[in-house]
Amino acid sequence: MKVLLTGGAGCLGSNITEFLAPISERVVIIDNFATGKLASIPDAGVVEVVEGSVTDSPLVEDIFSSLKPDLVIHGAASYKDPNDWYTDANTNVVGSILIARACERVGCFSTGQPANSSLLRNTQGHSDTCRSPDGANYELWHHQDGW
Ligand SMILES: NC(=O)c1ccc[n+]([C@@H]2O[C@H](COP(=O)([O-])OP(=O)(O)OC[C@H]3O[C@@H](n4cnc5c(N)ncnc54)[C@H](O)[C@@H]3O)[C@@H](O)[C@H]2O)c1
Repeated sequence: MKVLLTGGAGCLGSNITEFLAPISERVVIIDNFATGKLASIPDAGVVEVVEGSVTDSPLVEDIFSSLKPDLVIHGAASYKDPNDWYTDANTNVVGSILIARACERVGCFSTGQPANSSLLRNTQGHSDTCRSPDGANYELWHHQDGW
C-alpha cells in the first residue's frame, strides 16, 4: 500500500505514520512545518518527507502523479495565528479541495480533513487527547457529533 499523509509531521499525522509505516510499501509526507516538527516523524525506511504546502497545486499534482497513492490521510491543518485567516482559509479550504481533486483524478481513497481545525486550540499545560512534539497539549473543543 502506498500512502500520502498531509501534515504528517503533526500530532495526528506522526502517530498515524508510526502505525502505517510497518504495513506500507511507501509513506510520503507533505508538510510545511508550520506547527509540525521533522523530529516527530518516525524514522522508518519507507517514510519520505516533502517540505511543502498542500496549497501548492503543481507540487500536489507532482506527488500524486509520481506516487499514485492508494490511501491519502489529509491531516494538514492551519490554525497557528488566529489573526491570519488567509493562511488558515488557504490551507484548510483550498488545500483540502486540491487534495480531494487530486484523489479523484488518480482514483485513491482519502480521508477528509479529520475536523475543522478552528475547533482545536493550543493550550499549554492542559492535558487531553494529543501531545505535540513541542510538548504542548491540545484541548479539543468537542464537536456536537462528539470526538
Ligand atoms: N490532535 C487530535 O487529537 C485531533 C483529533 C481529531 C481531529 N483532529 C484534526 O486533525 C487535524 C490535524 O490536527 P493535529 O493535532 O495533528 O495538528 P498539528 O498542528 O499537530 O498538525 C497539522 C500539521 O499540518 C501541517 N501544515 C499546516 N499547514 C500546512 C500546509 N499548508 N501544507 C502542509 N502541511 C501543513 C503542520 O505543520 C502540522 O504538521 C486538524 O484538522 C484537527 O482538527 C485532531
